[in-house]
Amino acid sequence: MQEDLERVLFDEPTILRRLDELAAEISAEYHNRELTVIAVLNGSIILMADLLRRIPLPLKLDCLSIASYHGGTATSGEIEFRQIALPDVENRHILILDDILDSGVTLAAIREKLNSKRPRSVKTCVLLRKRKPRRRPVEVDYVGFDIGDEFVVGYGLDYMEQYRNLPCIGVLRKEEILPPDAA
Ligand code: IMP
Ligand code: MG
Repeated sequence: MQEDLERVLFDEPTILRRLDELAAEISAEYHNRELTVIAVLNGSIILMADLLRRIPLPLKLDCLSIASYHGGTATSGEIEFRQIALPDVENRHILILDDILDSGVTLAAIREKLNSKRPRSVKTCVLLRKRKPRRRPVEVDYVGFDIGDEFVVGYGLDYMEQYRNLPCIGVLRKEEILPPDAA
């Protein structure tokens, strides 16, 4: 898998060191509040496991299943909520966890949906944030790393459902990306 990368952006120790810092910030913020973490599947699954084990607070964990990419490397702009019941968010402090902020379409749609269920507060944490104009403006509260506008995989991020289990984050070689009509 690693040989399919053009270059590695963040190796595992670098990611974990950054998670120590993020976890400390989040723990300080929520230390006397009831926290519900909502992880956006599937991309945030590795982040969720590593980050939450660094947060020594009582918390509830729930997941949302979302699809927006449908296999390619550019967002389709359509968001599909795959489960019927939304997590119970009413009157709770919510922290949404996602792998990456790209166009902003996904996080904007999730925030809208959750806000309609009257949470007490909603914050967001993403491991990666791409430096680019957003299709929908979204503010995120906790960011692991800012990156350029490149397609990355690993540490939960996929290309056509592959590479999620790569322990580092890297840029996929262009030869590995199928042309849009083939993908
Ligand atoms: P957005 O709705 O465009 O912000 O995209 C959010 C979702 O697209 C993320 O949760 C990822 O699943 C996927 N995504 C965006 N950029 C990348 C990337 O560079 N690599 C892998 N997945 C990505
Ligand atoms: Mg994805």
